[in-house]
Amino acid sequence: MPLSRPAGNVTFDNQGRVILVTGGASGIGAAICQAFSETGGSVVCLDVNLPPTSMDAEFVRCNVAVDEDCEAAVEHTIEHFGAIDVLINNAAIQPSTSYQPIDQIGPEVWQSMIDINLCGYLRMAKNVIPYMKQQGSGVILNVASGQAHRTAREVGIYGPIKAANVMQARQWAVEYARDGIRVNSISPGAIDTPMVRASLEAQGGADALANRHPIGRIGNPEEVASAAVWLCSNSASFITGTDLEVDGGLGAFGAFADPYQTPSQQTENRNHPG
Ligand SMILES: NC(=O)c1ccc[n+]([C@@H]2O[C@H](COP(=O)([O-])OP(=O)(O)OC[C@H]3O[C@@H](n4cnc5c(N)ncnc54)[C@H](O)[C@@H]3O)[C@@H](O)[C@H]2O)c1
Repeated sequence: MPLSRPAGNVTFDNQGRVILVTGGASGIGAAICQAFSETGGSVVCLDVNLPPTSMDAEFVRCNVAVDEDCEAAVEHTIEHFGAIDVLINNAAIQPSTSYQPIDQIGPEVWQSMIDINLCGYLRMAKNVIPYMKQQGSGVILNVASGQAHRTAREVGIYGPIKAANVMQARQWAVEYARDGIRVNSISPGAIDTPMVRASLEAQGGADALANRHPIGRIGNPEEVASAAVWLCSNSASFITGTDLEVDGGLGAFGAFADPYQTPSQQTENRNHPG
């Protein structure tokens, strides 16, 4: 029986900071809103849908595909809170109709993914940066994906856009480093959110998806949120223009490696050795 050892803990203080989170009503975005508000931050949740009533955040309805919505959301935040310290670019879609080879995906599907997943990040950054420059400080975090870094079937639109989210962060980091603005990206592996639950079948089912991660399970939104809060804190003050993979080892697992056995294969082998 392994001994249960202390696992260590880190605490953060976001008192007085103003944090904007796009797509904050669900999944990873909701966990990020929660993590910042629990540590004292003033959180503004931008989404096309309402967040859970339990969330301690100001909600602003905002479609990141619409210029005027993004402008208005940033202006609203400045009017009400006087500053923007952190922007989390997180709102993205991966419709079930996008799980196809690219020659079978209709233009309305890929255009909406470009408008939201790519241009939405740009719109929000473009509106927030002038205020961060005035302040002489700010942090932007783009939520990218493990699919930014490696291939899979039927993600020929989503994956390349996620790769662009990584490169947006690197480019903007270099552009604005001398303005006191840090920009990074984070690349989650599979995380238990409505987006992933909706695509489980396309990804081979829950067990197969979990088994692709060396840790042997998919992640939970709080595990991404804690990495996000750290990257946006002063504890990460020398980190800019980089990407952090929060993926249970998925990215390190080479294509040459033998696949892990699933729990049911292990049981089968134990029951029928040799
Ligand atoms: N869940 C995963 O396994 C996973 C893995 C890697 C990366 N990601 C990335 O993490 C981010 C969050 O994903 P999630 O799994 O939490 O998804 P989710 O579907 O649970 O949440 C996405 C949120 O974005 C909002 N949204 C969608 N379109 C919008 C728009 N036009 N304007 C404003 N808000 C909009 C939705 O209403 C929703 O609240 C995305 O960028 C996604 O690509 C997720």
